Amino acid sequence: MTHTDMKRILLIGSGGREHAIALALSRSPRLAKLYVSPGNPGTQAIGESIHLSMDNNFDSVIEFVKQNNIDITIVGPEQPLVDGIVDRFLAEDLVIIGPSKDAAQLEGSKAFAKSFMKKYNIPTADYAVFDDHDSAKDYVKTHGCPIVIKADGLASGKGVVVAHDEHTAIDALDSIFVHNKFSSNRVVIESFLEGVEASLMAFVDGNHIVHMVSAQDHKPIYDGDKGPNTGGMGCFSPSMALNPLVESYVLESIVNPTLYGIQSEGMDFRGILYFGLMIHTNNRASVVEYNTRFGDPEAQVVLNRLDTDLITICEAIHNRTLDALTIDWDVKQAVCVVLTSGGYPNHYDVGVPINGTEIFETTDSYTLIHAGTRLEGEQLLTNGGRVLGVLAKSWDIPSAAELAYNAIGHIHYQGMYYRKDIGLKPKTV
Ligand code: AMP
Ligand code: GLY
Repeated sequence: MTHTDMKRILLIGSGGREHAIALALSRSPRLAKLYVSPGNPGTQAIGESIHLSMDNNFDSVIEFVKQNNIDITIVGPEQPLVDGIVDRFLAEDLVIIGPSKDAAQLEGSKAFAKSFMKKYNIPTADYAVFDDHDSAKDYVKTHGCPIVIKADGLASGKGVVVAHDEHTAIDALDSIFVHNKFSSNRVVIESFLEGVEASLMAFVDGNHIVHMVSAQDHKPIYDGDKGPNTGGMGCFSPSMALNPLVESYVLESIVNPTLYGIQSEGMDFRGILYFGLMIHTNNRASVVEYNTRFGDPEAQVVLNRLDTDLITICEAIHNRTLDALTIDWDVKQAVCVVLTSGGYPNHYDVGVPINGTEIFETTDSYTLIHAGTRLEGEQLLTNGGRVLGVLAKSWDIPSAAELAYNAIGHIHYQGMYYRKDIGLKPKTV
């Protein structure tokens, strides 16, 4: 391998997704050096943690990349993408994996995403957008329930309320218009879609779109998909609902038209596109949301199954040569169960000591994913709502889930909470 094959990488982010990306990068023979900003105790075992400010139009990041001869920067979370980090890098002729600011609106604004889907005839729930409280309330009363209330703008997965009764819908509107809980006073109100959810992520180079293996997230906090939505409580890959027939429909009616739309709008999208799907009983599907980055915890299960070098994929994304690459996946199936702080997704404490994670250092049967953790000396502490993920792989999802749950039995911290039903009965449509 020549030295030009070896790459110095900067990864931005600090969650479980970024630990999963770092783990995939660590499997590459082409990784010369990895920096993660700000990183977490999981990524720290693979790369060097640094703290780069995202303020001042990313000046500190640009300076670091130039001074440290970074070949490729990978952006984990959505906020820097929506704030235009990619545009800044491209203006400096630096290599970055992620969509430009206008393309990141597909995630950054639900109203924008819905009008994009309408324009390109991509199946999605019927909707209306409101900037004023009274018209939104009138719409809810006329339309009836179930109905879905979505705060426009980024909300870490917590800006959506599926309302089965009018009272809940009106409360959700109050939290947007009266309590100003979200960054914007605009609401998207959608018809309720029946079906089974699945996540399909794709590598996009602007000219080609290559989808990954599918996954199924579990957003509600409680077993049986009850309670408020979270950032994601666990995941398995593949989705059992996204069968080959549905997949054909999704490629023809959703994935390819989305790439066509991106091209027609003149967007520079060289990154990861995430399709949140609702699979219906008739082998069709609708888009619930776009994300313009890896899902979390989808990345944990999907990247664990990636057999092709992630650095080579990133290079192809940047050079618009994804069509020349064969991307291979492990046939084994993966499950990741998320452990949270007690009280999440509402108030929770941080700084709680975590014990029992040593077991993961001596086994390949399962992997500990760090999300909201930090180290104080040798002691691991909680540092967020989603604290850890436990990932296991096997020949079928229920046995991978069993492995993950057995491993969780070793971990202890006060207030530790996790769903007990991830992957035990994978849903078909
Ligand atoms: P979103 O952030 O748009 O993905 O919404 C979060 C979650 O709310 C989704 O993963 C679904 O579980 C649910 N959801 C969103 N939109 C709808 C819809 N139109 N019908 C049914 N459930 C929905
Ligand atoms: N797991 C859903 C997301 O990353 O938005």
